[in-house]
Amino acid sequence: MSTTTPAERTLVLLKPDAVRRGLVGELLGRFERKGLTIDAMELRTIDGAAADAHYAEHTEQPWYPPLRAFVTSGPLVALVLSGDEAITVTRALIGSTDGRKAAAGTIRGDFSLSNRENLVHASDSPESAKREIDLWFPGQA
Ligand code: CDP
Ligand code: MG
Repeated sequence: MSTTTPAERTLVLLKPDAVRRGLVGELLGRFERKGLTIDAMELRTIDGAAADAHYAEHTEQPWYPPLRAFVTSGPLVALVLSGDEAITVTRALIGSTDGRKAAAGTIRGDFSLSNRENLVHASDSPESAKREIDLWFPGQA
C-alpha cells in the first residue's frame, strides 16, 4: 500500500438510533470496507452538557432541544476514523443531513427517513475534526 498524503482523522458518532436499531455493525463495516481505520472507539451515554459542547454551533436553533433529547436518549458509539482525506470521504459515505433526501447508497439515504434521527455524525472540516476529537478523546487529536 502507498499513500501520498498523511492520514487525516475525523470524529464520528453512531447516534442512539443506530445503536437502538442494531446498525452498529453495518455502519462500522461500511467505514472499514472503504479502507478507513478505527483509531479509537467507545460506547458512551452523554448528558445534556456534553451534547451542548458537541453541538455548540447549533444550540440556538429552534430544533436544538429535540436534537439534544435525541442524542442523550441512549448509548451512542463515538469513534475516530483515519485515512487519506478521511473527513471528506466520511461525509460522502454518510450522505446529506435529511435522510429523506440523502442519495441512495449513502448511510442516511439507505437507512434514515428523518432529518433528525439520521444515524451518524461526522466532522465537517479539519477545524471541527480537531475540536471534536479533543472534546471526545482528549489527548488523541
Ligand atoms: O449532521 P450534519 O452536519 O449533516 O447536519 P447539521 O446541519 O450540522 O445538523 C446537526 C444535526 O442536527 C443533524 O445531523 C440532525 O441530527 C439534527 N438536525 C435536526 O434535528 N433538525 C434539523 N432541522 C436539522 C438538523
Ligand atoms: Mg454538521
